[in-house]
Amino acid sequence: MRVEVAKHAGICYGVERALKLAEEAAQSGTQVHTLGPLIHNPQAVAALRERGVIVAASLDEAPEGTLVIRSHGVEPAIIDEARERGLYVIDATCPHVSKAHEAAQELRRGGYVVVIVGEADHPEVEGIMAHAGGEAIVVSSAAELPDRLGGRRIGIVVQTTQSLRRLAEVVEAILPRASELRVFNTICSATGKRQQAAEELAETVDVMVIVGGHNSGNTTRLAEICGGVNEYVYHVETPDDLDAAWFEGAESVGVTAGASTPDEQMQAVIRAIEAMA
Ligand code: F3S
Repeated sequence: MRVEVAKHAGICYGVERALKLAEEAAQSGTQVHTLGPLIHNPQAVAALRERGVIVAASLDEAPEGTLVIRSHGVEPAIIDEARERGLYVIDATCPHVSKAHEAAQELRRGGYVVVIVGEADHPEVEGIMAHAGGEAIVVSSAAELPDRLGGRRIGIVVQTTQSLRRLAEVVEAILPRASELRVFNTICSATGKRQQAAEELAETVDVMVIVGGHNSGNTTRLAEICGGVNEYVYHVETPDDLDAAWFEGAESVGVTAGASTPDEQMQAVIRAIEAMA
């Protein structure tokens, strides 16, 4: 059985940078909290905890020391409040997410109706929403667009991990309803490349395995995309989730991993698949 790894699989620049900043802070001996899990990967969060990096669900749970803002970013008011409370803030917001923040701000200042393409309850989208003045319309697909948009000058920003296809679908649906349409394609290129490579590989292999947290939106989306071209797609977190029966009779297996999947985790799954061959 041949195991092939998709190009651009695995952890992205923004998440890796946030992990590095948190680890460096922990090494300096101060108390380190992250506001929410630094990475949507339960195994990686557990490993950080062992190094002294604690997840705080809110500022109240981070009474002192250093607070790391994760790559998803947050509302500016939260950073201000953390500083007012005396915390040392390390802002690990991914630069691509910051671009989406700037785009939302620019649209708001320009008086556009702001539409965010993304998941309404995702922290990244909440941060973009705050930069749009809290008044944006959030849709995850064209079907979710409301009957009334509230104006004909529309601006679109997109969550960095969305697919280009989904953005294009929303743009197409809004265009006939707009007198002016500005689109900021804030999709992170790493995401697009990872998705495209995963889809291309899934088309050619018998079985496709996606590695990453079940709570990771971008990993789940990889599984969805691959599921569109391959019937045998499995989303796993660790080698323990694998089932040898999936690979019976398979000649080729493709593997990819989400932006929040540490390389060791992907390699462990690859080794386990190879051992099942
Ligand atoms: Fe940033 Fe792209 Fe990762 S937006 S956090 S580099 S997926």
